[in-house]
Amino acid sequence: KKIVLAYSGGLDTSVLLSWIKETYDAEVIAFCANIGQDDELKGLNAKAKKTGASKIYVDDLQEEFAKDFIFPMMQAGAIYEGQYFLGTSIARPLIAKRMVEIAKAEGATAIGHGATGKGNDQVRFELTAAALAPEIEIIAPWRDERFRTQFPGRVEMIKYCEDKGIPIQASAKKPFSMDRNLLHISYEAGILEDPWFNAGDVKYREYFTTLSVFPEDAPDKSEYVVLDFDKGNCVAVNSKPMGPLQVMKTLNKLGGKHGVGRVDMVENRFVGMKSRGVYETPGGAILHFAHRQIESLTMDREVMHLRDGLVPEYAKLVYNGFWYAPERLALQALVTESQKNVSGTVRVKLYKGGIHAAGRQSQFSMYNPHIATMEADPTKAYNQDDATGFIRLNGLRLRVNSQVNGAKNLG
Ligand code: ARG
Ligand code: SIN
Repeated sequence: KKIVLAYSGGLDTSVLLSWIKETYDAEVIAFCANIGQDDELKGLNAKAKKTGASKIYVDDLQEEFAKDFIFPMMQAGAIYEGQYFLGTSIARPLIAKRMVEIAKAEGATAIGHGATGKGNDQVRFELTAAALAPEIEIIAPWRDERFRTQFPGRVEMIKYCEDKGIPIQASAKKPFSMDRNLLHISYEAGILEDPWFNAGDVKYREYFTTLSVFPEDAPDKSEYVVLDFDKGNCVAVNSKPMGPLQVMKTLNKLGGKHGVGRVDMVENRFVGMKSRGVYETPGGAILHFAHRQIESLTMDREVMHLRDGLVPEYAKLVYNGFWYAPERLALQALVTESQKNVSGTVRVKLYKGGIHAAGRQSQFSMYNPHIATMEADPTKAYNQDDATGFIRLNGLRLRVNSQVNGAKNLG
């Protein structure tokens, strides 16, 4: 039996690798996706081998992650429950897709992961596998009673590694769990489980500042950033043309410096529970904001409102792990169509945790100063007299309703 395991080299996945190999008497192929987590990937090869892997893949998927996952999601304006930029959610389908590809190439019949039985990630990995490789078997040790009994905590894991000669770094355990990639870093669990705990207190500036500073620590001087869009995709920053990966890196740096894109929320997990998360999404927050600005200038009103109505739906699909589901693909087709004219330039100002609009222009601008002006309109495109009938007809049903239902409407 051959199993492909999502592996990071950390304590958990090291134990997982060895335990799966033993328990299933299987050959384990370790897989580590580089999606911009900036982990130490050097030495991972030797580490995996020492831990018992027959082979290890370390694949740089950053370009693909930015281009085929983050950017299409940004075009959709996706945001979950009004706050979460979906940084972890959007990475899972890519990781799972690559695992399935490796499994096929290696003739492996199963894939394994270290997501817990209480979270969203297990769902995302496994729904992706279901969509792309319906026959593949899933191994999720955290949902296995035997594994949970053997490893009630870190102490048992460390002891296990010592006994087996598995190399582990003796890093001090942070009082929360993290997940980082090109789009964001998340913090959950541990001290964050108390929703009243203030992660934004400057005394925690050592903790929640991987990609960005606290607004209190941001420069006193504002900074302007100019973004060029082509069909809803950012193609240049400060007039420098660049691909999606470089856009993300550049905006992360700029946004991080000014402390933008910091989120602290309680969210609804797909599995039913509420969970508290702290996120840093500096570049993503700028992109999301600037994209809306260029849309505001170039998009038809009804197309925009239709798409806007679908934002919660789209975000939910990404959050719940339905990236490869037919309804997400159908929605994406609508999004692509809606972005045809979403091209032009946006200027934003970053200042102490805030992103502020500072101008937009486009060759596809639908904003017509002649029509909108309060001054005389030389083009005669708008006749104010027309508004009288427009309002009268729109008011008709309200008048009828009021006559039928009377004063009840006044509350
Ligand atoms: N709550 C976020 C989400 O569901 C972040 C999950 C973090 N995952 C992790 N393995 N630490 O997308
Ligand atoms: C996990 O449970 O593995 C992490 C949190 C989540 O997936 O929501």
